[in-house]
Amino acid sequence: MTRRSEQLTPELHDYLVAHSAAPDAVLSQLAAETAAAFPDAAGMQIGPEQGTFMTLLTQLTGASRALEIGTFTGYSSICLARGLASGGKLTCCDVSEEWTSVARKYWGLAGVADRIDLQLRPAVETLRAMPASESFDIAFIDADKTGYVSYWDEVVPRIRPGGVILVDNTLSHGRVVEPDTADANVAGIRAFNDHAVADDRVVLVLLPIGDGLTLARKK
Ligand SMILES: C[S@@+](CC[C@H](N)C(=O)[O-])C[C@H]1O[C@@H](n2cnc3c(N)ncnc32)[C@H](O)[C@@H]1O
Repeated sequence: MTRRSEQLTPELHDYLVAHSAAPDAVLSQLAAETAAAFPDAAGMQIGPEQGTFMTLLTQLTGASRALEIGTFTGYSSICLARGLASGGKLTCCDVSEEWTSVARKYWGLAGVADRIDLQLRPAVETLRAMPASESFDIAFIDADKTGYVSYWDEVVPRIRPGGVILVDNTLSHGRVVEPDTADANVAGIRAFNDHAVADDRVVLVLLPIGDGLTLARKK
């Protein structure tokens, strides 16, 4: 028994991935195309075990309305869309026509295009333009890190009681605990982590999946 989360060596990480449900051919092809077409940006994509976790969580919550902030080439959106209940919808927010054109192609290949509504403009604008009645069962926040507190403040009121919010990169590659890091993205993540953990509308846990994944349940 241990009371600490395990540090994952590369070998242990490979073992973990090999002993989790594998991504299918569409997700594998999407990861390969993203790496080839956008080598400098491909690291933004979530990993296979996180994708499987997100599909399972979406299914387990019985979600039919989902929201994603930060879609890139579509990997995480496919994982969310595949977990939705029959007739479910996913609203995707991004600002890049180039990156989301790849997502559109793979939504078609994955057979989820009819479940997805892509909003191409800054996510805060999309959220603020939504009717007050718009509510979600699950949300995934994974866009610009300096915007996380704003996204959180817009998203929490739109999540139904018992609904779930996932927030990516909340360990900032370990830099959240490096005292002399002045990077704006790290500062944004630190500000977000402090903000969210103090929010008594939710109960949350920061999971060591990928680059840190915060899982919050709205009370
Ligand atoms: C980390 S990537 C998302 C990765 C994606 N979730 C995946 O797993 O493949 C961040 C995305 O946020 C988008 N983005 C950046 N600023 C944004 C903003 N103000 N509003 C909406 N999307 C934004 C970028 O265009 C980029 O596609």
